[in-house]
Amino acid sequence: MKTVKKAIIPAAGLGTRFLPATKAMPKEMLPIVDKPTIQYIVEEAIESGIEDIIIVTGKGKRAIEDHFDNNFELEDNLVKKEKYELLDKVRQSSNVDIHYIRQKEPKGLGHAVWCARKFIGDEPFAVLLGDDIVQAETPCLKQLIQQYEVTQCSVVGVQQVPDEETHRYGIVEPLVQEGRRYEVRSFVEKPEQGTAPSNLAIMGRYVFTPEIFTFLDRQEVGTGGEIQLTDAIQMLNELQQVYAYDFEGERYDVGEKFGFIKTTIEVALQDFELKNELLVYLEGLLEKIER
Ligand code: UTP
Repeated sequence: MKTVKKAIIPAAGLGTRFLPATKAMPKEMLPIVDKPTIQYIVEEAIESGIEDIIIVTGKGKRAIEDHFDNNFELEDNLVKKEKYELLDKVRQSSNVDIHYIRQKEPKGLGHAVWCARKFIGDEPFAVLLGDDIVQAETPCLKQLIQQYEVTQCSVVGVQQVPDEETHRYGIVEPLVQEGRRYEVRSFVEKPEQGTAPSNLAIMGRYVFTPEIFTFLDRQEVGTGGEIQLTDAIQMLNELQQVYAYDFEGERYDVGEKFGFIKTTIEVALQDFELKNELLVYLEGLLEKIER
């Protein structure tokens, strides 16, 4: 049985929803409190047992590579100042290997995943998107890998979203439900409002068999003029079963502004040192606004 040891993190998008912040800085480097969003994703991959990560980058994304590299000057400075706690935060000490590949043009998520095909070869693999951060007892990706191990099939992570939000996501049309796992009839990318076949939305975590590349190779353009991953998943599902798994955990949408602000506040409230001060500030702010 093949195991899932490699992961792709596509990070070559333009991040237009965060302009002008993302004009010269990758969206993936925007911090939630003090940690860049992409670091949450890398940590989830490591905690899920991934040994090799390939980050698909593009123009203006160098800061991502620098972030996961060692910074000797900074480390030396922190050692001299005996700031060991900070030193632990900046040292890259895990056993995972991080690799990089460039997507020369942002042609869509499906194309970004396709760019990493030679790195993956003939193995099952994971894809994690930085737009979603998940806090869960068992890391979200690990839950999907466990489903892959049982089914030997591709699995996409889903969660329920309200009716008025379905048009923002890839949505699954479920067939048979077994616990949290669904057999799927079809996958639809961003269905028009009122036409979604369910409320189960794809959430940026996937495990794929390598056959997905057969369909990404076709480079077919879909919604928004982009090569869509969801379209390839739909075609794969016609060849071999693709499951949807309603994963456990709290998911934070950091790919758009309001979600990003909410996540920042919630994560700050989980921080022992920030919590009390922030609560007092928020209470004061509410009073001021109500006046
Ligand atoms: P998004 O559409 O959420 O990211 O793509 P974006 O394009 O950067 O953001 P907006 O919509 O302009 O604000 C989901 C993920 O796919 C990656 C993005 O980096 C993001 O992590 N992506 C998207 C690519 O790597 N390449 C692409 O061509 C498109």
